[in-house]
Amino acid sequence: MIVYNDRGSLSKALLPFRLHKKIGLIPTMGALHNGHLALVKQALEDNDCVVVSIFVNPTQFDKEADLIKYPRNLNLDVNLLATLEGTILIYAPEAIQLYHGNISSNNYSFGNIENEMEGKYRKGHFDGVGTVVNLLLRDVEPNSAYFGEKDFQQLQIVRKLVEIEKLAVEIVGCPIVREESGLAMSSRNKRLSAVQLEAATLINKTLLEVQQKFQHLSISKCNALVEERFLKNNHLTLEYFEVANVKTLKTAKHKFSNKDYRAFIAVFAGQVRLIDNIALN
Ligand code: PAJ
Repeated sequence: MIVYNDRGSLSKALLPFRLHKKIGLIPTMGALHNGHLALVKQALEDNDCVVVSIFVNPTQFDKEADLIKYPRNLNLDVNLLATLEGTILIYAPEAIQLYHGNISSNNYSFGNIENEMEGKYRKGHFDGVGTVVNLLLRDVEPNSAYFGEKDFQQLQIVRKLVEIEKLAVEIVGCPIVREESGLAMSSRNKRLSAVQLEAATLINKTLLEVQQKFQHLSISKCNALVEERFLKNNHLTLEYFEVANVKTLKTAKHKFSNKDYRAFIAVFAGQVRLIDNIALN
């Protein structure tokens, strides 16, 4: 499996696929797990050639410490991808090259979705995501690009980005892959102690409880239920829980029968921030 570090050599390798074949892109920050692999497998089914980009994007981290601590192991990632069958190219550019010499974010106007949840709690995060995804899409020029519903708001932001940048690419959303315990797979799970890992199962359990009771509970009762579950847990701190309209991602205060809702949650286990979400109706 070849790792391409610059757009020139990647473009050359992609040349045979340009005319009549399909190219899929999966942007990642590495530390790959089965959640990422599910995206790669889907892309391999849909395309003739799949590019997996591995790049820890400095402009999307609001905390320097998080960027420094982000797990990096290219060899492990390459070996994991090599277990899959199909044509996979790895794109692992240097920041300065990917960013054309200027490592900074564009100022996007993604509309209301950028101000909710992750946008509210992680200032500048989505500008950083939008900037790097735009650069990657322009380097690879794929027919389709794959993103996980684990980062549901990011998926919506990327759809908006494609509109703003007028890019000819199909954005494919893929379901959340979970551990047997229900915990959503994440590169950050590696930073959890055994006790925190066990405690973190409360996140999905609580989302499932809300999903089950959603029809009969008001949204304020759902919020209170979640707060109570996390207050009782010594290892986890709730940052936010919100029921939001799937389309606008606006926080919902009351339910309307013709609208679709999703629950979104962010929790700290020590220094490690975990997010998850679930469809409610
Ligand atoms: P990263 O966290 O590495 O995730 C890469 C892709 O894998 C994202 O689309 C994410 O939603 C998806 N993913 C992660 N865990 C998943 C899970 N358990 N189930 C399903 N999909 C999962 O998200 C990023 O990187 C970055 O923000 C990026 C888009 C690469 C831009 O830098």
